[in-house]
Amino acid sequence: MNAPPAPSFFIGRLGIEGPPFDAWSQQSLLASLEQAGLDWPSSCRNGTCRTCIGQLVSGRIRYQIEWPGLSAEEKAEGYVLPCAAFACSDLVLKR
Ligand code: FES
Repeated sequence: MNAPPAPSFFIGRLGIEGPPFDAWSQQSLLASLEQAGLDWPSSCRNGTCRTCIGQLVSGRIRYQIEWPGLSAEEKAEGYVLPCAAFACSDLVLKR
C-alpha cells in the first residue's frame, strides 16, 4: 500500500522584503497567510466581496471558482483574491 502524497507548499512572501510564509497548494492563500499568523483583511472568503484583494508581484496561482470578483484588466495587472486563490509556485504578494 502506498503512502498518500505529502501535501506540497511553496514559499510565499509578503512583499519582496516581507516575511515568508508556507503557501500550501491545497488551501487558499488567505488560509496560508492566517496559518502563518500574518494579518490580511477578509470578509466573504468566497471570492466575491474583494475585501482581501492583493497584487501578485511574482509567482502563479489558480482559482477553484470559475470567475472570482476581478475584472480581466485587474487580473492582467496581477490583482488576486487570496481567499479563493491557491499557490502554484513560490510567490510574492502585496497589498
Ligand atoms: S474575502 Fe471576500 S473576496 Fe476575499
